[in-house]
Amino acid sequence: MARLAKLKARRVLDSRGRPTIEVDAFASDGSIGRAIAPSGASTGRHEAFELRDVDSTRFGGRDVGRALANVEGEIARRLNGFELDDQYSIDRALIELDGSKNKSRLGANALIAVSLACARAAAESHREELYIYLNKIWRSHAIAGVDAAPRLPVPIVNMISGGAHAGRNLDVQDVLAVPLGERSYSDSLERIVALYHELGAVLREQGEEGSLVGDEGGYGPKLSDDSVAIERVVAAIERIGLAPGVDFAIAVDVASTQFHDESTSTYLMRPRARDGSRGKPVKITSSQMIDMLESWVNRYPITALEDPLAEDDREGWREITRRLGDRVHLIGDDLFVTDARRLREGVDEKVANAILIKPNQAGTLTETLETLALAKRSGYRTIVSARSGETEDSTIADLAVATASDHIKIGSVARSERLAKYNRLLRIEEKLSEANIN
Ligand code: PGA
Ligand code: ZN
Repeated sequence: MARLAKLKARRVLDSRGRPTIEVDAFASDGSIGRAIAPSGASTGRHEAFELRDVDSTRFGGRDVGRALANVEGEIARRLNGFELDDQYSIDRALIELDGSKNKSRLGANALIAVSLACARAAAESHREELYIYLNKIWRSHAIAGVDAAPRLPVPIVNMISGGAHAGRNLDVQDVLAVPLGERSYSDSLERIVALYHELGAVLREQGEEGSLVGDEGGYGPKLSDDSVAIERVVAAIERIGLAPGVDFAIAVDVASTQFHDESTSTYLMRPRARDGSRGKPVKITSSQMIDMLESWVNRYPITALEDPLAEDDREGWREITRRLGDRVHLIGDDLFVTDARRLREGVDEKVANAILIKPNQAGTLTETLETLALAKRSGYRTIVSARSGETEDSTIADLAVATASDHIKIGSVARSERLAKYNRLLRIEEKLSEANIN
């Protein structure tokens, strides 16, 4: 049985050219597991804490030197000798060693990289594909027989970026496409790619700078209104000969925490003026926000809204769930921050009906799996998600398959930190179909 022999941490760069933590976990049998922490831009207030050296001049105050030192110092001293198979004990030890409420002492970026690197080392030591190994851990969380077998998720794919990911050209952060119908993952991906390129052509024809891309690879046009972004995607679906609402649905990550004003409990929308600049903010209440989103749901083939209300607007969340909860998936990202306790509160209050799962919001693999299991038991849809700051690390692809998650949300089909995950899913699809044939 392999034990953890050594942890090595190094500074690498993410897709925004910012430093992040890569951890190598060395096992006693020579196996090595490597993982890299991702990083968000529109982070929720209740997320586990990303430790950065704000007082340092290196990398403009974004360096991760302290978190790196924590991995090779305190964390390595505590974890060396642990059985790598025992992910639960590894993660418990990490949580207890940190000791803070939000992992701010050692840094959630240090903890998640260590937690995932250990899981990868264990999989390597068993000579198992990561999704197979993760699925074994998942089985101890899943309800017997339900969602216990590995399954490919349906991708929810960013087409147009706005908000914090594209210079605030739009209020909403993402307009996404969701392939519908029973198709293989690779067939769906091929359609998604066709749609992405056609959308580029649609935007260029409209003179909308469609070739510029945002942080997640989606187009970042300056449109007159958020609803125009949805219309452009619908037009592109039609132009590739497919039917909106039948072959592709639309999802919108409103990411409304980003433009929520707590002091007035309103949302600050910024319509575009005639000269193309963004005009003065218009304040709207939660109820008006829900009216606007409901009118979109009535007009467009929308099947999911993410963070339609802000992270602490509980009343707004209750209202939208009452009004739209049986028509669309209402996904909590900043609302739940992959935290089982916050999800439990949401389930009790009848808020949302789906959850975004980002391992670095939780800080350890075990907590991520616990939240996923609670979501499944509560009948909430699960969407495993990347961050806007990503790397070549493709662990979330394996995680989504291992836990039979409904969806995966990685960004667009451009930029290699996104493609690392889409391509990993292609390889897993091949493995799963070989396993079915044999
Ligand atoms: P973030 O965005 O990684 O910048 O938080 C992703 C999302 O909001 O889903
Ligand atoms: Zn989001």
